[in-house]
Amino acid sequence: MASKGTATVAAAVPEVALRSGNARPMPAVGMGTAAFPLVPEATKNAVLAAIEVGYRHFDTAYMYGTEKPLGDAVAEAVRRGLVASRQELFVTSKLWCTQCHPDLVLPALRQTLQACRNLQIEYLDLYLIHWPICIKPVPPSFPAKKEDAMPFDFEGVWLAMEECHRLGLAKAIGVSNFTTKHLDKVLAAATIPPAVNQVELNPVWQQRTLRGYCAEKGIHVAAYSPLGGQNWDGTGNAVLESDVLAGIAKARGKTIAQVSLRWIYEQGVTSIAKSYNMERLKQNLEIFDWELTDEDRLKISQIPQKKVVKGTDLFSREGEFTSVDAADLNVEE
Ligand code: A2P
Repeated sequence: MASKGTATVAAAVPEVALRSGNARPMPAVGMGTAAFPLVPEATKNAVLAAIEVGYRHFDTAYMYGTEKPLGDAVAEAVRRGLVASRQELFVTSKLWCTQCHPDLVLPALRQTLQACRNLQIEYLDLYLIHWPICIKPVPPSFPAKKEDAMPFDFEGVWLAMEECHRLGLAKAIGVSNFTTKHLDKVLAAATIPPAVNQVELNPVWQQRTLRGYCAEKGIHVAAYSPLGGQNWDGTGNAVLESDVLAGIAKARGKTIAQVSLRWIYEQGVTSIAKSYNMERLKQNLEIFDWELTDEDRLKISQIPQKKVVKGTDLFSREGEFTSVDAADLNVEE
């Protein structure tokens, strides 16, 4: 790592080699950039702060609208000498549901690379299918109309993802929000199996079945909402408000966020944690030089489980048909 002044922190973040492709290894904690409402300047400044404290892994998506501010921040970080080049970074983006049509996948990736043009090198380290949901190729709206939902062509879309990889535009390819059933369909069609499945995962939604499946198939699991998310369902934050985690945090002299991130790391899962605050960004990397005890792990294993991101609000309540129901997203794990 050739970064100025931050090499110690950056070097302390372990990395995971991904099975597929020639991607740079994935740092075990990444910074998420899903933030609503979108303030591009805040994203750019937060990414720069993150690079300064040692982050080398950044997660964006077409739907978040943060590809450009991330690209701008990377260009500025290179200009300022915070990193020597874009190759020091691991960058993920995601294909939106309106783009999940075999002939639209490559153009969508090219559009993403154009948005991130300031990344200076025309590739992503990881490109993910954002949801196992297909929406007509209409301009994206949030929520989408139910009548715009279509059956998902798992084989066609995945083969188009493979083409992105073969062209060198995505060093690794994967999926997000896929259950074991969706993964079965992709694996049945794949020459290049997905390298990663990024899903909601934290001590309050532990995804044991899915993790077991992915371990067996060599698919690395990444966690979004590792700290419980941003009150996505309006019921608060079950991770940061957990009494069990608070008790462990107190006993270890750590924060609840650190206990959650440490637990996720101990499960072999990469966290994509969103913070736009420099102190919290820093705190979220300080999880690699201590461990939970067996007693802590037992207590965490007994936390009642609750899924927050159910996918249902991707669609408006109007209309006849929802591919979310058809997609069977909300099986227990
Ligand atoms: P902020 O950006 O103000 O730090 P998740 O990564 O699970 O989506 O959670 C992100 C939420 O948790 C954000 O609202 C973020 O707010 C907050 N957050 C991130 N890191 C910490 C931390 N160390 N302690 C408390 N809250 C945090």
